Amino acid sequence: MKIPLSMPVFDEEMRNAALDALQNERFVMGESVFKFEEEFARYCGTKYAVSTGSGTSALQLSLIALGVAPGDDVVTTPFSFVATANAALHVGATPVFADVDVGTCNLDVELAKEKVNEKTRAIIPVHLYGFPANMKSILDAFGDRDCAVVEDACQAHGAEYYGRRVGALGNVGCFSFYSSKNMTVCGDGGMVVTNDEEVARKVAKLRDCGRASHYEHDLIGFTARLNTVNAAIGRVQLKKLDDWNEKRRTCAELYEKLLSNTADVILPPNGNSDVKPVYHLYVIRTSQRDKLKIWLEQNGVQCGVHYPIPIHLQPAYRKLFAYKGGEFPRSELLSKTVLSLPMYPELTKDEIEYVCEKIHDFFD
Ligand SMILES: Cc1ncc(COP(=O)(O)O)c(C=O)c1O
Repeated sequence: MKIPLSMPVFDEEMRNAALDALQNERFVMGESVFKFEEEFARYCGTKYAVSTGSGTSALQLSLIALGVAPGDDVVTTPFSFVATANAALHVGATPVFADVDVGTCNLDVELAKEKVNEKTRAIIPVHLYGFPANMKSILDAFGDRDCAVVEDACQAHGAEYYGRRVGALGNVGCFSFYSSKNMTVCGDGGMVVTNDEEVARKVAKLRDCGRASHYEHDLIGFTARLNTVNAAIGRVQLKKLDDWNEKRRTCAELYEKLLSNTADVILPPNGNSDVKPVYHLYVIRTSQRDKLKIWLEQNGVQCGVHYPIPIHLQPAYRKLFAYKGGEFPRSELLSKTVLSLPMYPELTKDEIEYVCEKIHDFFD
């Protein structure tokens, strides 16, 4: 057996949509871009959606549009993809880390509250692995301060939180359509969703060279647009997202059934009727992570580690902020124990049974 960690889908309908867009629309800012934005906003339940060239630019442009500037602090988690914190640095602000809750791997809100001071202008909770962050507490704690809540929903397309989709809960939600995500545009891409008209307008200008009109630029903008062909593919993927997420949940249920009560394996948190994760990744924890990973890969099961180095210990961050290790012990522990198992909608029952059997063999 050879079982990959993830498997992006590119089918006939997507191929046709891509070809149609290439042949009949402008390559840049074609009709598909605006249709995709409309459909994505409707899907998330927000008034506006503005596409960008990546999840990283979605975060960066959101922060700029919200007025985050040099000298400001942005509170976030050290246990995420590095782009979450980079976004703060890209706008000249300082990422201020607060450690995570070990059970969910998401921001510990009590610790985040301790990091707030008069310079704090934004908080970026991440819905890591597709599991919604504790947004009620985050909005209670930060909602009425002069501090924007920017959801990093780059791993959580379609996840639900008390009847609403993530991304639509804070001031702004940011998505990535990188090829391994629950939905992709078969290339790089991103989206900002919001109910704030001014923020939406600003992001739309910032991603398009700061354009007010074709020859007039009233903001210092970027070239951070989503290409038309990618938007056309994204529209097809979006139609399939709910079905794919449901299939991921079914895979997670089977993993849970087959792996519960395995000594030295901690399973990811379950959802419930209010908090519905989308299992971008299925991440177990074990003290024997590295050995188990080698064993599974020897047996044809591709695994991943998200993430082996917490952001504050990345070389670039050590250099900038002199982190030495020990500052965020929970994230550091997670980085040594997390293991991502294969997870994608078309993963079969037989394949999951095989993976779990190999995990049992390892511990036996
Ligand atoms: C949590 C998180 N934030 C931000 C990003 C950045 O998205 P992109 O790779 O599209 O720039 C990613 C994507 O990998 C991510 O997983």
